[in-house]
Amino acid sequence: MFPDFLTSAVVERPAESSNFGSGIFVISIGGSLLYKEGVINSEAVRQIADSINSLQSSGYKFALVIGGGVLARDFVETSKALGASNFELDEIGIAATRLNAQLFIQALGNSFREVLTDIKKAKTIIDSGKIPVFGGLIPGVTTDFDAALLAEYLGGTFINLSNVNGIYGSNPRDNPDAVLYRELSYDALIKILMKEESKPRQNLVLDIPAALILKRSKITGFFLNGSNLRNFESAVRGESFDGTIVSPTGQVDASEIPDAEETAPEEQGSEETGIQKPKKKRKPSAKSPAKRKKKDNDDDPDIIAMRLRMH
Ligand code: UTP
Repeated sequence: MFPDFLTSAVVERPAESSNFGSGIFVISIGGSLLYKEGVINSEAVRQIADSINSLQSSGYKFALVIGGGVLARDFVETSKALGASNFELDEIGIAATRLNAQLFIQALGNSFREVLTDIKKAKTIIDSGKIPVFGGLIPGVTTDFDAALLAEYLGGTFINLSNVNGIYGSNPRDNPDAVLYRELSYDALIKILMKEESKPRQNLVLDIPAALILKRSKITGFFLNGSNLRNFESAVRGESFDGTIVSPTGQVDASEIPDAEETAPEEQGSEETGIQKPKKKRKPSAKSPAKRKKKDNDDDPDIIAMRLRMH
């Protein structure tokens, strides 16, 4: 009844995907995975590192970028209350990501023993058999953006590990009927992110500038739950996995993503699969000139690209 890419529990890598060229996986490890109830989740750090260690000893190549999590949030919020500027808040956020990166350097058997700050050093380190570990790089962006840039530089595959199962049509925490997409085009991904970004309290799985880097260099991206490491290992090994894949051959394109105001009534659950499907494509509705102007701006890549990290 439903197309396979929405209802099958797993996704296959696209056969002629763009960017498996270098065979390097750049993993953006979301800060949400590293903390539990406000303190470091050392068990989670250990398990993620063990999984990467074992894949690396079977010959897979990695570069890691580590997020800030609660540590960054605490420091940024407190510093903001104390009067820090946006630039300073970003510097503080970056410092937190680099401290988290230190944890992975300790936990990985074969890591380069310093947190890297120069993308161009990654290749030599990988070639020497070690894993380069990064935190944040420049104010105004996120570690997902940095990881996308690193994947671009290395000609690698981008993997986002977070605490959700992939890319949903809307936030699954707010909407239990949210659609989990299995395969997306870049434009579909960007449309979903723009829709979510326009809502209050948004917490995007990926920020739009990072998505634009994936798009411009046709980098394949996997979006997976970092607490299911068997699934992560399947994705790296080229086996079927549970999550979202974004690639040039992604089966859902932007035209198939409902507009923001049209989403909620259309999303319906499927108890069997836990995966939902937008019922049908909507015809574009007549909009006021003001609304149309806002939409035009929203669609303008230059405007999207200027959306920096906001505190
Ligand atoms: P994160 O990448 O962890 O931000 O960096 P995030 O997306 O808010 O975190 P998660 O994924 O939800 O946990 C933490 C903060 O560090 C600064 C930003 O202020 C960001 O919010 N940062 C990070 C930069 O300014 N530049 C970078 O390159 C990386």
